[in-house]
Amino acid sequence: MDIERLRREFPARRIDYYPAIDSTMRAAVGLKPGSVVLAGQQTAGQGRHGRSWHSEAGSGIYCSIVLKPAPALTLALGLATADAITRATGMACDLRWPNDVMLAGKKVAGILVQNAIAGIGINVNHTSFPAELALEATSLRLHTGAPVSLTTIMLALLPAVDRFVELDKDTIVRLFTRASSYAAGQRVTVEQPDGVIEGTTAGLDPAGFLIVHKDDGTDTLILAGGVRAAGS
Ligand code: BTN
Repeated sequence: MDIERLRREFPARRIDYYPAIDSTMRAAVGLKPGSVVLAGQQTAGQGRHGRSWHSEAGSGIYCSIVLKPAPALTLALGLATADAITRATGMACDLRWPNDVMLAGKKVAGILVQNAIAGIGINVNHTSFPAELALEATSLRLHTGAPVSLTTIMLALLPAVDRFVELDKDTIVRLFTRASSYAAGQRVTVEQPDGVIEGTTAGLDPAGFLIVHKDDGTDTLILAGGVRAAGS
């Protein structure tokens, strides 16, 4: 990653780079909005729901961006990440509610939002994954067939995040619904605190929560992730 180039292109931002760090989320705490923390490798990368994030050295984007609180931030960040990947590679991505970025049914990027700090992990040049991730994770390189520049993705990502987080909630919900094959008509299973439910997605409510139409005819509003395509 060409950090000096990023600093030249975004002179108003503080951009910190760590060749190796436990988690960029921790390093970003307390920095002012607009600040960016990047790492070449994370030794304790954090995923959503207390999971870890596989952060192979030199292969991915491991980035935390300090934002101001904004409506529908989680959905906006998924849109921004998908937009940046498309601009950098030409590949269209799907979005799995609330903000997993998918290529051919596998996850290529994940987003964690903590106190208006956006943690974005993108699998870029990974050529393989540990066995436990191999069925559900992919990388950009596995689809393009050639290495992808981390710098090019960051040059697209930072402006995309700025653009999408400034949109109003209704626009974000509308754009997400249009961009995501998971938003409506998708058979899904959802991990809930009281068990797994199965049904068909039926759009987002105005706040951006996912409506799942269960097979017993009732609707459930999904407030947090854990959504998977049924049978996957
Ligand atoms: C997910 O579970 O889908 C969210 C993954 C978020 C990973 C990124 S990598 C950069 C930032 N630092 C972390 O420790 N996690 C986020």
